[in-house]
Amino acid sequence: MSADDGFTAIVGGFIMRKSHTFLPLLARLAAAATLLLCVNANGATRGIAEPPASCPSWVHSAVFYQIYPQTFYDSNGDGIGDLEGIIQKLDYVKSLGVDALWINPFFDSPFCDAGYDISDYLRVAPRYGTNDDARRLFREAHKRGLHVLFDFVASYTSMEHPWFKASAQQEKGKYSNWYIWTDNIWLNPPKKFEGAFIKGHGTRNGQYMQNFYYCQPALNYGFAAPDPEQKWELPIDHPDVVAMKEEMKRVFRFWMDMGADGFRADMAGALVKASGVEGTQQFFTTQEEGTKQFWREIRDIINKDYPDAFIVSEWSYPLSALDGCFHADFFHWFDGYNDLFQKESWRILNGYSEGHSYFDVEGKGDIAFFLEKYMDQYERTKGKGYVCIPLGNHDNARLGNRRSDDDLEIIYAFGLTMPGVPFIYYGNEIGMRQMPESWPQVEGAYRPRNGARTPMQWSKRTNLGFSVAPPDKLYLPVDPAPDAPTVEAQEGDPRSLLHRTRALIRLRQSEPALAAYAEFVPLYAQKNTYPLVYYRAKGSDVVLVVLNPAQNAASAEFDFQVPYARLKLLAGKAPAISREAGKMALKITGRSYAIYRLER
Ligand code: GLC
Ligand code: CA
Repeated sequence: MSADDGFTAIVGGFIMRKSHTFLPLLARLAAAATLLLCVNANGATRGIAEPPASCPSWVHSAVFYQIYPQTFYDSNGDGIGDLEGIIQKLDYVKSLGVDALWINPFFDSPFCDAGYDISDYLRVAPRYGTNDDARRLFREAHKRGLHVLFDFVASYTSMEHPWFKASAQQEKGKYSNWYIWTDNIWLNPPKKFEGAFIKGHGTRNGQYMQNFYYCQPALNYGFAAPDPEQKWELPIDHPDVVAMKEEMKRVFRFWMDMGADGFRADMAGALVKASGVEGTQQFFTTQEEGTKQFWREIRDIINKDYPDAFIVSEWSYPLSALDGCFHADFFHWFDGYNDLFQKESWRILNGYSEGHSYFDVEGKGDIAFFLEKYMDQYERTKGKGYVCIPLGNHDNARLGNRRSDDDLEIIYAFGLTMPGVPFIYYGNEIGMRQMPESWPQVEGAYRPRNGARTPMQWSKRTNLGFSVAPPDKLYLPVDPAPDAPTVEAQEGDPRSLLHRTRALIRLRQSEPALAAYAEFVPLYAQKNTYPLVYYRAKGSDVVLVVLNPAQNAASAEFDFQVPYARLKLLAGKAPAISREAGKMALKITGRSYAIYRLER
C-alpha cells in the first residue's frame, strides 16, 4: 500500500501492521493551534477555511448514508434486498436528514466477492431488478432531494466478464491486452509480483494478475516503468490500454447519464502497476502518476459535463487521491483508523492485532497516533478535497461491536464534527450489532465482514421486517437477539439512538463551523489520555467538541484564546469548565461528550 511507514498494507484481504514510531505530535499540534488560534480584528479565526475547488456546493454540509443493496430491504420476498426495496425505504432515508446515498455494486455478477466482481458493467443484476429500476431509483431519490453515488469498480472485473473470457483465449484478439497476462505459463513472473498471479486458467499460455481474489483479474492500466525483460508489461499509453480506459469512461458516463450523482471508486489507487512496490501490495499502490492521470481524466469530464457530481475514492491516501483526482478520499485503510474504532483482535479485519481502540469504555486507547497521521494528510490536502473518516462500512466489523448506544453516540458525535464528509453505514443509526464469526461466510464476505452485512432491522415482524422469505432463504440470517434494535421501536422512543443520531446530523448541517471545510484545531490530544478536545471554526463561527469515550472521568487543561462570552451546549452533557488568562480547564464524566457553540 503506501510507502509511508505507519500505513497498513492490505494483502490478499489481510491487514498487516507495519512498525511505526511515535513522533512528537503535541509539539506540532501546539504550534498549529497557536498559529490558528490567532484572531483578527473582527474576531474571526485565521487559517484556510475555503471549500475545495470545483467541489459541488451541496457536499460542504452533506451527510451520506451507505446502503448495502443485498441486505437493506427485500421487496419481493426472495430473501435478497433489491433496488425496489431501496426505493420503498427512501422516505426513511430522507427522514434521517442525510443528503445522499452511496449504494454498493448492484451490477451483473457471479457474486464471488458480493458483486464487486462485475460481469456486465451496464446491467443491473437481475436479483436487484432492472436498469429501469435503477433509473427510477435515481429519479425517486432526486424527488426527495437525495443524491445517489454508484460504486465504480474500475480496477478489475469478474472472471465471467466477456472481456476476460476473450482475453483468456489462445487466439489473439481485441481483449487480449485488456488484462495483465505473462507470456509463458511455466515461467513465474519476477519475484516482486509473488502471489499476484494465477496460472492454469484458459487456453492462453500465461498467468494472469489478480487484483484481490482470484476471481477478480486486474484490468490492464499498464506499468509505470515496464521492465524491458518482461515484454508483457505494457506502458500506460499502449493503444490497448488506452482503448480499455476509454471503455471504462463510457461505463462511467452510462450511469451518470442515467441519473447518478457521482460514484465511490473501489480500490482507486490500484490501477497502474508500480515498480518498486512488491507483490500483492500492488493492490494498494498509492502514488503512481499514471493512476492519477486516469482519475484526472475522469475528473475533467465531471468538471465539464457533470459539474454537480461528487466522486470519492477508496484509496486511503488523500495526498494522491485529492491531487486533482477526487473530491474526497476515504481514509480508513491505515493503522490510525484502527486506533479509533477497531484495535482489538476481535474487532479488526484480519484478527491479528494487539491494542485498544480509543473509542472504548476501557479507556486504554491512544488518539495521538491517529491524529499524527490524520493531521499530516489533512494539512497537506487542505483546499484540495476532503478526507473522510467513515462511520463503519461493509469491509469492517460493525461499530456496534460490544458497544452500547451511548458509546456509539460519542463515536457519531466525533464523526459528525470532524472535517470532511461523513458516511454512515446502514443500520448504525440504530446501533445494529456485529454478528459473530460463525455467521455464514457468503459471497466472499469472511469474518468480520459477514457479521457486518446482515439484514437491516426494520421492525419486530418476520425477519425483523427485512423480508417475508423463509429465514433459511435470507442472504444472511438476521440478528437473533431478543433485544435486537429496530427502526420501529426506536422511532417511538425520543431518547433512542436513532433520534440522537438524527439530532447530530441536523447539527452538522446547521452549524457553519461544522462545514466539511471549516478549520479543525486539536486542543487537547495527549498520548494514551482522555478526553479529546478540538474546535472547528469558520470565520467567527466556532464549535468546541469534548469527547470522553472512556468509563472514567477525565480532565484537561489547555490554551484557549478564542474570545467568547458564553458557551452554548448544542449536544451531549456539559462538563465542568473554567477559564482564565487564555487557558481552559475542564472535567468531564465518563462515557460522555459535549458540543458547544461559542457565543460572543
Ligand atoms: C473494496 C471493497 C471490498 C472488496 C474489495 C475487492 O475494498 O470495498 O468489499 O472486497 O474492494 O473488490
Ligand atoms: Ca428481493
